Amino acid sequence: MANLEQHVNQNIEKYIGELTEYLRFPSISTLPENRDDINKCAAFTAEKMLEAGLDRAEVMQTAGHPVVYGERLRVEGAPTVLIYGHYDVQPVDPVELWHSEPFNPVIKDGKIYARGATDDKGQLYMHIKAVQSIMQTVGELPLNVKFIIEGEEEIGSPSLEPFLKANKELLKCDVVLVSDTALFAPMLPTLTYGLRGLCYMEVEITGPSRDLHSGTFGGAVANPVNILSQIIAKMHDEDGKVAIPGFYDDVVPLTELERNKLALLEFSEEEYKNHLNVDELWGEKGYTVIERTGARPTLDCNGIWGGFSGAGAKTIIPSKASAKISMRLVANQDPVKTAQQFKDFVESVAPKSVKVKVSEVHGAEACLVPLESKAITAATNALSRAFGKDTVYIREGGSIPVVAKFKKYLGADAVLMGLGLNTENLHSPDEHFDLNHFRLGIISSAWFMEEYAKK
Ligand code: BES
Ligand code: ZN
Repeated sequence: MANLEQHVNQNIEKYIGELTEYLRFPSISTLPENRDDINKCAAFTAEKMLEAGLDRAEVMQTAGHPVVYGERLRVEGAPTVLIYGHYDVQPVDPVELWHSEPFNPVIKDGKIYARGATDDKGQLYMHIKAVQSIMQTVGELPLNVKFIIEGEEEIGSPSLEPFLKANKELLKCDVVLVSDTALFAPMLPTLTYGLRGLCYMEVEITGPSRDLHSGTFGGAVANPVNILSQIIAKMHDEDGKVAIPGFYDDVVPLTELERNKLALLEFSEEEYKNHLNVDELWGEKGYTVIERTGARPTLDCNGIWGGFSGAGAKTIIPSKASAKISMRLVANQDPVKTAQQFKDFVESVAPKSVKVKVSEVHGAEACLVPLESKAITAATNALSRAFGKDTVYIREGGSIPVVAKFKKYLGADAVLMGLGLNTENLHSPDEHFDLNHFRLGIISSAWFMEEYAKK
């Protein structure tokens, strides 16, 4: 693939133009009003796969949003890579905090700004362009390629598990390649070997049957907002540990060897604090920031509401209060078991003066991929060659629910070769993607295919 790099460099403006078009679809998976945009975005994905040189690209219906499947399987005896990505995006609110419109991409200082730029359209598009670049330079892929691009990742991939179960033969592969994670630092080639799981819960506390006058009834009736706050406050101890009984039972402890390796990653707490504009960090005592955000489980309240929050004052004891609470899990923790522990805990600490409803929103298993494999070696070589630097290995705090499912249903491990950055505002206003990483990602993907095809 001697002239592949040159080909990518020569065509990069065109590829960026296509990515700009891709980013115009408001493919927000959680909002029913964007259903049509989701379908159009899926169709565009399939179209681009065919243009790149795949033999087949199909929008396949599921109970939820469609999955886009593509393939080119022409190299007998060669391994098969299944490339996974997601074309759905997070909502854009608070939209007033964006400096440009979320679905009208703008390029500034070598970065493209739009919802979905780094998570995940920009990253998945690298692989489509890698296929095209190989086809246009070499004329044939070095191995067999399948694509599965879903539209429900940001809502927990509810339809993908049944899809995997029903299409095991279609999706059969030797390895899954995913670019939906981040580099450890700009221009530092990185492979992620662990993702956290998730257990997402909702708690609703009900007190009196209607909002009450807080003068007339204050002092006689429990206030759901007060009670909910007390319950949430009990979820951590003073050491920043999660205080739910049994929560840590199945956690695989970090080994000294792994801790030593993670400690070698160059990381500045000062820069981290400055970037986040906080004076002090917080977390589980006895662990570094890198360990706490990648290899240890956590609990966070994502949102809380109840009572009066308009301008001015309204003197009430609210009837209801609710919160959404998520727990990030690590390998070997079971989201179903964690949900039960959470429910038991909330019910046990809630006083009789209120009614409690605890429900599960969604869950995902964590994953850890072995570093000793042909695929990881191939990815390491490809990245190091493209970036001209040694590749580092990290554990990521975010979740990609389907990665554990690929292992379960297809028996395939994943190569997590993400080229985003955690500073690229995914899930926030002004999401963007570094276009030099985009270019190097195309080259790395192509070189991965070349390396992995070697006997
Ligand atoms: N791309 C992210 C996961 C991620 C985030 C990887 C940060 C590396 C760094 C993914 O799209 C995502 O946001 N996943 C959700 C999953 C959830 C909705 C089930 C997450 O982690 O919150
Ligand atoms: Zn993503």
